[in-house]
Amino acid sequence: MIRSVFAGCGHYLPAQKISNADFLAKHNIDSDSAWIEQRTGITQRHIAGETETTSDMATAAARAALADAKLTPEDIDIIVLATTTADHAFPAAAVRVQANLGMTRGFAFDVQAVCSGFVYALTVADNFIRLGQAKRALVIGAEKFSTLLDWNDRTTSVLFGDGAGAVVLEAREGAGAITDTGILSTHLHSDGRYYKLLQTDDAGFVRMDGKEVFRHAVTNLAEVVDEALAATGLKAEQIDWLVPHQANQRIIDGTGKKLGLPAERVVSTIAQHANTSAASIPLALSTAVHDGRIKRGQIVLLDAMGGGFTWGAVVVRW
Ligand SMILES: CC(C)(COP(=O)(O)OP(=O)(O)OC[C@H]1O[C@@H](n2cnc3c(N)ncnc32)[C@H](O)[C@@H]1OP(=O)(O)O)[C@@H](O)C(=O)NCCC(=O)NCCS
Repeated sequence: MIRSVFAGCGHYLPAQKISNADFLAKHNIDSDSAWIEQRTGITQRHIAGETETTSDMATAAARAALADAKLTPEDIDIIVLATTTADHAFPAAAVRVQANLGMTRGFAFDVQAVCSGFVYALTVADNFIRLGQAKRALVIGAEKFSTLLDWNDRTTSVLFGDGAGAVVLEAREGAGAITDTGILSTHLHSDGRYYKLLQTDDAGFVRMDGKEVFRHAVTNLAEVVDEALAATGLKAEQIDWLVPHQANQRIIDGTGKKLGLPAERVVSTIAQHANTSAASIPLALSTAVHDGRIKRGQIVLLDAMGGGFTWGAVVVRW
């Protein structure tokens, strides 16, 4: 059976790195850095330059992932880009990445599932690969979420940052067993009844019922993690790394505890990156791979929850 194996990964963070205190002062937000750190775990974030676009960041992350995989753009058949903040309403930011990379073959498109976007994009790319319709895929999560923030709304403006992460998936033969390398199972969900709890308003600004989103996130993530374990037959203690979407340290801790994982086996980058929506998982993944924590052969569980609501999980043997 064909498996989608991770041939490489990389990420990009905008040059401007700004602490909570400087961020609050800059935008005149009525909050304090201690509140943000205690309630969310965030201490700083990166913010894209005014003319820097989502496709610019996505391209930089894609180049890093290709270099890590020792591949060139000509080796890639499809680009799947998870983003909420494409450069324009259309075309897809993915086709700009394709052009930036000098690719004229294959095809590229965006996936929109907000903070669950990367888990959705990985699942879509995995399906193309397993069906034999693509040999190699670039899967990217990239966001310029700062463009959606209302500085007068302290309940949302302090939570987000910008950035991009990417992976290269490659088709390889597997035995169809849990010992295979690559993506072992994917699990997606959505429930549109909760559309209004986390959405952009008519002016294009993020609005969120934080308490309700928090409550649903804890429950939905616990359920989808159980589903992923049941589908693969893995026991919680066999998970080497949890790489969750980075929305709130308390949600990350909750899922880690539910799995019985010590904090050292949960990858958290929220302190440095804040919530970068679809970019948060590939940013965290690439960080932990390149600093040597995640090693070949280890089991990695990715999980995410976002607007829609959308949520999901992916089980990987790195
Ligand atoms: C947004 C979030 C951090 C708020 O934390 P919380 O502990 O639920 O805080 P609450 O909303 O209960 O607010 C507590 C108090 O802090 C205040 N507060 C809210 N934002 C604040 C801020 N930025 N600075 C200071 N005080 C703030 C509130 O006004 C409230 O004051 P009150 O008790 O006087 O009414 C939290 O709900 C959260 O992380 N939600 C989910 C986020 C998420 O997952 N989002 C994206 C999914 S992709």
